[in-house]
Amino acid sequence: LREHEEFTKVKNIATIELGRYEIETWYFSPFPPEYNDCLKLFFCEFCLNFMKRKEQLQRHMKKCDLKHPPGDEIYRSGTLSMFEVDGKKNKVYGQNLCYLAKLFLDHKTLYYDVDLFLFYVLCECDDRGCHMVGYFSKEKHSEESYNLACILTLPPYQRKGYGKFLIAFSYELSKKEGKVGTPERPLSDLGLLSYRGYWTRVLLDILKKHKGNISIKELSDMTAIKAEDILTTLQSLELIQYRKGQHVICADPKVLDRHLKAAGRGGLEVDVCKLIWTPYK
Ligand code: ACO
Ligand code: ZN
Repeated sequence: LREHEEFTKVKNIATIELGRYEIETWYFSPFPPEYNDCLKLFFCEFCLNFMKRKEQLQRHMKKCDLKHPPGDEIYRSGTLSMFEVDGKKNKVYGQNLCYLAKLFLDHKTLYYDVDLFLFYVLCECDDRGCHMVGYFSKEKHSEESYNLACILTLPPYQRKGYGKFLIAFSYELSKKEGKVGTPERPLSDLGLLSYRGYWTRVLLDILKKHKGNISIKELSDMTAIKAEDILTTLQSLELIQYRKGQHVICADPKVLDRHLKAAGRGGLEVDVCKLIWTPYK
């Protein structure tokens, strides 16, 4: 369900309050019409219900008993936790999350049919509760082998490695499913940068360690990254040659080292032992 008109609509909500942050929004989001006259919205950081006035939020906070996203905690490492929320079991939460996310996503489909999706909500936890830093959504069943539909790191948390953590997490889920995956297209500029960065680091790390020849298929089996994404990444790094009608990886150690230096920091790692999860049936 795509709202084509969205692209031409002007931004309505200019700022939101969420937990201890006041955040400036980036794009239009199709909140219900009764919110059309609002410049600012106040979100409950736990259930993601939104309100027009601060006093409403304060009253809500007294009776809202959530301290984390509704759903199962499937990962915990230090203060970082990931919750899996089923859009069918938590429809309102899923819709609220989509409204919120659309404020920072431009060319993205907004699904009202949240039933078909799982939401993976990443939180920083302390004694006040689990505070959302970002999330990604995933179709329960994807014909196109998408392992991620939308990804967002909330602006106050951006550029700290959470985006790459979320991406890595989506591939860990694919590995557990025994499937390859790819993000839904189109990617935003920031989305593409983050994916390029993730793919580059993962592939360079393997090529660096691996002795002898390795094929794109083998890389795909090891990483759950779709072969096409591996090919475009290695092509952009100029590690591919085309010989006798076949793509061959030419991993010259010197070239690898140069790219690895340029690839920057690895970021937050997903500790796979701490992921307790079984694929959706
Ligand atoms: N300027 C330049 N490069 C950037 C920027 C930026 N503002 N933000 C991220 N990058 C690049 C960098 O290469 C960075 O790696 P580095 O810091 O090691 O150099 C890499 O992307 C990833 O950085 P992270 O800190 O791991 O990612 P972050 O937590 O900032 O999240 C995300 C990235 C999710 C794309 C975030 O920018 C965001 O939420 N943007 C708005 C929503 C969006 O565009 N989502 C993707 C849409 S496509 C899709 O959903 C399938
Ligand atoms: Zn609430």
